[in-house]
Amino acid sequence: LHGASLAGRHVLITAGPTYEPIDPVRYIANRSSGKQGHALARVAKDMGAKVTLVSGPTNLPDMPGVTTIKVETATDMLDAALAALPVDVAICAAAVADWRAAHQAAQKLKKEDGQTGLNLALARNPDILATLAAPGARRPTLVIGFAAETETIITHAQAKLSRKGADWIVANDVSPDTGIMGGDHTEVHLVSATGVEDWPAMGKDEMAAKLLARAAEALHAMQLA
Ligand code: C5P
Repeated sequence: LHGASLAGRHVLITAGPTYEPIDPVRYIANRSSGKQGHALARVAKDMGAKVTLVSGPTNLPDMPGVTTIKVETATDMLDAALAALPVDVAICAAAVADWRAAHQAAQKLKKEDGQTGLNLALARNPDILATLAAPGARRPTLVIGFAAETETIITHAQAKLSRKGADWIVANDVSPDTGIMGGDHTEVHLVSATGVEDWPAMGKDEMAAKLLARAAEALHAMQLA
């Protein structure tokens, strides 16, 4: 078993958006394509890992050799992620909705004549990354999160690292003019307790390969330690 292999490792990846229902026909969602998470799953499988991909709704094809669990809501994503434990590495690439409708209407919401507004009460969703990273016997050896930011990227990523208890945060600038959200390329900063590495712009597949090679090395080093 050399440093760059993931043979014998179990890797859990969350990917895509979540859909949070408001009523039977409407939901709150976001523009995540799932491409980065699916790329991570494909590369991890190619490196020999057993891979569990928990994915929100995407247009991406299923990948042979990857156990894919399809979910819609953050709550279901959390349940599926916890059911996949134990794992060696957890990578939270999903764009989980921060909020869900506090009450899901059993019937389609109707607008009344003359109604000019509607207040929708929202409830906080569970944080999957923070839950996985919390100390405990089943904590993965390596927990990696993503931070999609549009300003003061590194500062926000460092705050996220400690607040959520992750080992690494992959931070990127998702301002609309970057084309990263939904696109095929990315430009990231790897933020850990030991510092910040600025990686050059590259394809999401290439970034996945570089990140997983680093994860494989880190697992290997921890085992030797
Ligand atoms: O707090 P924020 O959404 O910016 O954090 C992003 C990171 O946290 C990503 O890795 C994302 O997958 C994860 N996350 C999560 N569950 C949430 C919110 C974010 O796993 N409810």
